[in-house]
Amino acid sequence: MPALTTTSGGFLLNGEPFRIVSGALHYFRVHPEQWADRLRKARLMGLNTVETYVPWNLHQPDPEGPLVLDGLLDLPRYLRLAGREGLRVLLRPGPFICAEWDGGGLPAWLTADPDIRLRSSDPRFTDAVDRYLDLLLPPLLPHFAGSGGPVIAVQVENEYGAYGDDTAYLRHLADALRAWGVEELLFTCDQADPAHLVAGSLPGVLATGTFGSRIEQSLARLRAHQSEAPLMCTEFWVGWFDHWGGPHHVRDAADAAADLDRLLSAGASVNLYMFHGGTNFGFTNGANHHHAYAPTVTSYDYDAPLTEWGDPGPKYHALREVIARHAPVPDEPVPSPGRKLPPTEVVLDRRAPLLPHASALGAPVRAEDPLTMQALGQRAGFALYRTSVPRSGDGLLRFAGGVGDRAQVFVDGAPAGVLERERRDETLPVRIPRPGATLEVLVENMGGVNYGPHIGTPKGLLGPVSFEDTVLRGWDCHPLPLDGPDGPAGTLPFVPSGQVTSAVPAFHHGRFRVEEPADAFLALPGWTKGQAWINGFPLGRYWNRGPQRTLYVPAPVLRPGANELLLLESHGTTSARVLLTDTPDLGPVRS
Ligand code: GLA
Repeated sequence: MPALTTTSGGFLLNGEPFRIVSGALHYFRVHPEQWADRLRKARLMGLNTVETYVPWNLHQPDPEGPLVLDGLLDLPRYLRLAGREGLRVLLRPGPFICAEWDGGGLPAWLTADPDIRLRSSDPRFTDAVDRYLDLLLPPLLPHFAGSGGPVIAVQVENEYGAYGDDTAYLRHLADALRAWGVEELLFTCDQADPAHLVAGSLPGVLATGTFGSRIEQSLARLRAHQSEAPLMCTEFWVGWFDHWGGPHHVRDAADAAADLDRLLSAGASVNLYMFHGGTNFGFTNGANHHHAYAPTVTSYDYDAPLTEWGDPGPKYHALREVIARHAPVPDEPVPSPGRKLPPTEVVLDRRAPLLPHASALGAPVRAEDPLTMQALGQRAGFALYRTSVPRSGDGLLRFAGGVGDRAQVFVDGAPAGVLERERRDETLPVRIPRPGATLEVLVENMGGVNYGPHIGTPKGLLGPVSFEDTVLRGWDCHPLPLDGPDGPAGTLPFVPSGQVTSAVPAFHHGRFRVEEPADAFLALPGWTKGQAWINGFPLGRYWNRGPQRTLYVPAPVLRPGANELLLLESHGTTSARVLLTDTPDLGPVRS
């Protein structure tokens, strides 16, 4: 008998009426030394439960290797901390999680098979899922309510009705969980659309909804779909996420509070999506592809009640007040904003150009035609492709199949142009100055699509490359995942900045001192686009296209005394300085 059970009127926890008042808090988007703080602030807002997805792609980077369960991925520790705070947990292990996360959590080694039918009963897919669950569930089982732990319910798949209708696949997942001894309540979640609910539900498994507005209509659809069960909104969207080049989304706190009041007044249970969004550190963001490819920014602030930097915002206060009308809220003060680092300038006085030193970061694989990143065995990051062009002249470079996702082209080391998947670019006019000129193409994976039919589409160069009517053969393909545990810089020959032009892709390195670590925001005026690391910790992507203008630097990344900042600037900079400020800037809001 699971700890959490359902009646037509609502949930029972260990036989007592229980309304789930939950908030999403993804451990993999928060520095592990901040988990306890964020969980405490969840309880203090009046939440009795937190929800988290589980990102398969990071936990199982290698299909044959063991599961990664440490540091940012120490899910058992996160569950222990939640339990210690008195919080219950809704676990959403996927295998697909969407979540604006790279590939929706599906590993690149899995989607590398072009024939596999993702999220279906295709045995190539379910066999891989079974192997994953065989590794994931044993360390998690002690944290389920049946063993005295905080996990009270487990989600099967994610908004499956928006994608497919293979009920046998959903059944396979539910059976696999049961076969592993998961006794807890199982549930599905789908957008509050009758067709989605039908396609994404599984008989005998609680159906829940995902919606952020039109509360009465959504609850009525849920009720029409399922007459005898508690009403639950598994994703009450209190804010939204941003794409590069788009506006910064916010949702008015009073509007979100009014809709939460409607939900709770109707007797429904809820999971705020998000309670605390956190950050897409390193190369972990996803992308959408509706009409065009649109990658998600580094911040996952989401305009959530608890900001990306862990301070209660206006929405925290507004939603806490609403919750207090319907459920007990701890009689303890709302935490004050955390200390911020005093503004600190960092001079980046050493450089190492990327292209000449690519071999130090990733040994090349020789191939007749360029290999995709998947074929090179990498999940994310960059790949550098090098060949020579046998003839000279003005002409068109043609990239069959386009690029995944953004390619910078260099002829004899000089920048010659950029192709973007967002614009569906496949050609670039270039001048080849001499027969035998070196052509280099630096391709950036901007994040795997996490929703809809484009999930798993390949990255890197996607087909043969030709110059006019000559197909260019014989490529050195360098995988550059740049995901080492201490950052990528160790092996690079840095020289004083003045000795390297600022207009080529290069690593820039600087040192700075900190008295007492505290949260900060990295501002990069004059810089174009790249990645940032502090003391080897990957802060993520910056881009002057915006909207996001600062990167969050969690306090635990900093050390008292000497610290190191590393940037990989893909284009160029007009400045040799950056600033650690005390003020975040996520960009202009849509008016
Ligand atoms: C859906 C998905 C979530 C997330 C939200 C939007 O509801 O289930 O994973 O992508 O949309 O933030």
